[in-house]
Amino acid sequence: MNKITAAITAVGSYVPDFVMSNQVLETLVETNDEWITSRTGIKERRILNEEGKGTSFMAIKAAQNLIEKANIDPATIDLVIMATATPDLPVASTGVYVATQIGAVNAFAYDLQAACSSFLYGMSTASAYIAAGRYKRVLLIGADKMSSIIDYTDRATCIIFGDGAGAVLFEPNEEGLGVQDEFLRSDGVGREFLKIEAGGSILPPNEDTVANKQHFVHQDGKTVFKYAVSGMADVSEKIMERNNLTKDTVQWLVAHQANKRIIDATAHRMGVDDSKVLVNIEKYGNTTSATLPLVLSDFEHLFKKGDNIIFAAFGGGFT
Ligand code: UT7
Repeated sequence: MNKITAAITAVGSYVPDFVMSNQVLETLVETNDEWITSRTGIKERRILNEEGKGTSFMAIKAAQNLIEKANIDPATIDLVIMATATPDLPVASTGVYVATQIGAVNAFAYDLQAACSSFLYGMSTASAYIAAGRYKRVLLIGADKMSSIIDYTDRATCIIFGDGAGAVLFEPNEEGLGVQDEFLRSDGVGREFLKIEAGGSILPPNEDTVANKQHFVHQDGKTVFKYAVSGMADVSEKIMERNNLTKDTVQWLVAHQANKRIIDATAHRMGVDDSKVLVNIEKYGNTTSATLPLVLSDFEHLFKKGDNIIFAAFGGGFT
């Protein structure tokens, strides 16, 4: 019997209709379109602004988009992994709700949280289950409603983040296609530089934590930027070396969309041409767990069987 690898066989996505442009942000904080565009590459982001709708709303839409496009019977899905840093509720898995809503009646489901690397780590988990022969259809969804944890008076965070969702299906492949290798790392030094201080077990919510805005994301952008540049470039270079890939044999870079300058630095270290670097940050900003599947979905038409694609991400934790 041939070795089983885990291939991505279908992609779907969803972004909310409401567009928050840089011009709108100019009315909320001391910033301007020129600064945001030149420092981050972002022009606009989508916001889920309908009351009562959480991350699951977008995740369900992305999964349904995949199911319709690929004509999949949801009852044949074995596992749903929900990559998210913004679950609907602190307790009660969002993935479980999503799986039920999409009709994945024979699946089990859970959430996976690794900040902006949630989807990438989820790819590791999903592909390992498939390669081990344990499950045949694993649906990995990356979705985040970042607007629910962003302070729109803090210009260091509100300009970057947006809301969105993407989904991919992993299935067994016997031609050697699909996930080939991975190099994942994490470093607890990052905890101080990007976090939500309150609402967890160390500092449960109280009136002061609300008044002090401790339920929003705070980041030391400069430090995160520094670690992100070296972290993403290091792992991408490593994976190329380890697999004897060159700038010519890599077809695409699918990188976490946090800042165009971080993506460019990664591409530069890899030596790949700009035409191989897939970027949609200008439309969506940083959607955390959704950036990688949104890139796959937006550029699906470009991919050919056998293309070498490098995925890279960096996030809070650090992850
Ligand atoms: O997904 C993983 C998580 N996050 C990231 O990967 C984000 C990583 N960090 C970044 O992308 C960047 O650090 C930011 C985009 C957040 C900030 O860009 P920067 O080039 O690192 O700017 P900075 O924080 O060093 O600030 C430079 C200047 C400062 O003014 P002075 O002190 O030089 O006068 C800031 O006060 O720009 C000012 N500034 C702004 N000006 C206009 C900071 N934010 C803004 C803003 N609009 N939104």
